Amino acid sequence: MNNLRESSLIPRSYVPAETSQNIRRSGLKPIVNLLSDVPPLEYSSKLKTPLGVVPGNIIPNFAVLEGGDGSGTTTQLSLLTERLKNTEKPVFFPTFEPTDGQIGALIRSALRKELPLNPETLAMLFACDRNEHLYGDDGIIVRVNRGELVVSDRYVCSSLVYQGIECGDELPMALNSRFGIPQVTIFLDVEPEIALARVNKRKTLDIYEYREFQEKVRDRYRAVLDNYSSMGARVETIDASKSIEEVSDQVWSIISSLPIFKL
Ligand code: TMP
Repeated sequence: MNNLRESSLIPRSYVPAETSQNIRRSGLKPIVNLLSDVPPLEYSSKLKTPLGVVPGNIIPNFAVLEGGDGSGTTTQLSLLTERLKNTEKPVFFPTFEPTDGQIGALIRSALRKELPLNPETLAMLFACDRNEHLYGDDGIIVRVNRGELVVSDRYVCSSLVYQGIECGDELPMALNSRFGIPQVTIFLDVEPEIALARVNKRKTLDIYEYREFQEKVRDRYRAVLDNYSSMGARVETIDASKSIEEVSDQVWSIISSLPIFKL
C-alpha cells in the first residue's frame, strides 16, 4: 500500500501526482491507510470491552450522518433521537461536529464570518475538535467501548469534502488519518438547489452556503464515499429530496440493522 493514487479514499481525479509524491516525501500517512496499514488504534487493544476486538480501524457502534448544507442531517438526528428516547438498550448518544466545546465554538464563529481564518487553520481546527470528540474524556471511543450507540451529525468525510475543496487533498487527509471509520456512514443526498432553498429560510448563511460551493460538495461527497465503500467501509445513500418522514424511516432501517441491536 504505497501508492496513494491506487488506494486513496480520495478519488484519483482529486489526487495530483505531486500530492502523492509530497506525501511520500514528507512521510505523512495518507488516510487511505485507515482500513489496512495502520495498526489498530489503542481503543481496540487497550480498553477491553465485551464487544471484543475491533476489526481494522472500524469503530463499532458508531454511525455518522453526512451531507451538504440543508441535506437534513441535523433534523434526521433529532428524529432518530426521538425514536430512541424510550429505548433502554442500547444507550443512545447523539452528537455532532463541530462540537459544542470551545474549539467547536471557535469554528462556528469562523463559519459565521465573525472570525476570519485561513482555510488551512480551519482544517486544523476541525481536526482538533474531532480529536477531542473522539478521544476525549467521555468521547466517542469511551462511549462505544462501554456499549453505547453513538451517532454523529458529521465527521471525517465532512473535512475530506469541505476542506478538500478549500485546501486540496493533502492537508485534510493528513489531519484525519488517525480517526477511525464509522460502522456505517449515511449520506443524505440532495440537489443543492433544493437543499439551499431550505437553508435560505435561515437569517444568516455560513461561509459554505452558496450554490457553486454546494455543487462541488455534492460531487465530492459522491467521489469520496465511493472510494470509502470500495475500501470496505459501509456507506448508505438516501435520497434526501424525499419527505422528512420517508428519509427518517430509511435512516431508522439502517441504524436498526446495526449489530448492537442484536446483542
Ligand atoms: P452544520 O452544523 O449546519 O452541519 O454546519 C457545519 C458546517 O461546517 C457545514 O457547512 C459543514 C462544515 N464542516 C466542515 O467544513 N468540515 C468539517 O469537518 C465539519 C464537521 C463541518
